Amino acid sequence: MDAKITLLPGDGIGPEVVAEAEKVLAAVGSKFGHTFEFARALAGGIAIDQTGNPLPDETLAVCRQSDAVLLGAVGGPKWSDPKAPVRPEQGLLKIRKELGLFANIRPVKIYPALAEASTLKRDVIENVDLVIVRELTGGIYFGQPQGPVDGPNGRAAIDTMHYTEAEVARLMHVAFKIARQRRKKVTSVDKANVLASSRLWREVAHQVAAEYPDVEFEDVLVDACAMHLIRRPGDFDVVAAGNLFGDILSDEASMLAGSMGMLPSASLAEGKFGLYEPIHGSAPDIAGQGIANPLATILSAAMMLRTTFDLPAEADAVEAAVDSVLARGYRTPDLAWSGETKVGTEEMGDLVAQTVIEA
Ligand code: IPM
Ligand code: MG
Repeated sequence: MDAKITLLPGDGIGPEVVAEAEKVLAAVGSKFGHTFEFARALAGGIAIDQTGNPLPDETLAVCRQSDAVLLGAVGGPKWSDPKAPVRPEQGLLKIRKELGLFANIRPVKIYPALAEASTLKRDVIENVDLVIVRELTGGIYFGQPQGPVDGPNGRAAIDTMHYTEAEVARLMHVAFKIARQRRKKVTSVDKANVLASSRLWREVAHQVAAEYPDVEFEDVLVDACAMHLIRRPGDFDVVAAGNLFGDILSDEASMLAGSMGMLPSASLAEGKFGLYEPIHGSAPDIAGQGIANPLATILSAAMMLRTTFDLPAEADAVEAAVDSVLARGYRTPDLAWSGETKVGTEEMGDLVAQTVIEA
């Protein structure tokens, strides 16, 4: 296969982790006989510095001409002044919206070798294997009006949580289809006891659920879901949530796996196109030190191979290589518990790439 992949390294540790995923994709290419052509473009803070725009038109154009996009991370203290006219995160929201990436898939799986890295007890996390399906182009992230609305009582600001029936339905269909490939259970998350948009969400979720009678379905309020994720995470299979609730629950769920550094994600449009990115941020505190964990980005590349390129054997090879490297005791500092071999970002990438080649 001949495929075009756009790399958006972004800020902080983004460039470091994307470089390792590129290395692993190149290894997959040479092992399995595919040609991956890489383009690079600016996004986030680095794009603000160089062009004044967190998502230059040229970046969007390059992404549109490619089969898939791999993003590192955007943001950092340099650009986080709340008064700043433009912010790196606006670039991320814009690319999601412009490319129609409405479904964000965030699998959470426990690597046996990492059970000790989690702050939760081993018997609680042992059977965790869940996927968060987060709505990504609607909800309170995009609802209008949004912004300051200063009035007679002083400074004020407003955000709007807005969902249409169509937006909820297409997200729920994605969740049910994923559930059919797995343990056939969907948990829909909302706050229907308080929010009107959540009552619509729940109604539509039930309508869609009726089309999948073979899949078990439940609603859970978001606050209760936050609790159950810690108390009985092994019970969840597919968790479908709106943009804000999915954002919060996926950070929480990442801690089941021991480190944010392990969680990949795919942001999908209708069709095969996807943007793949680790769920962690730009981690400015450790940027440039060569110690960031590249595995979430490498696992995001594996999701790309499986989902956009229909290359399940290649995706399996990358995931098996990650398993093997961890089982052999190699750890980036975020995962090191005691007695394991500490490695840096590049060495971790080399180990995975080499394992793919030698398998
Ligand atoms: C995520 C991040 C982003 C989000 C930020 C960086 C805008 O937290 O991808 O989860 O809130 O969607
Ligand atoms: Mg987040």
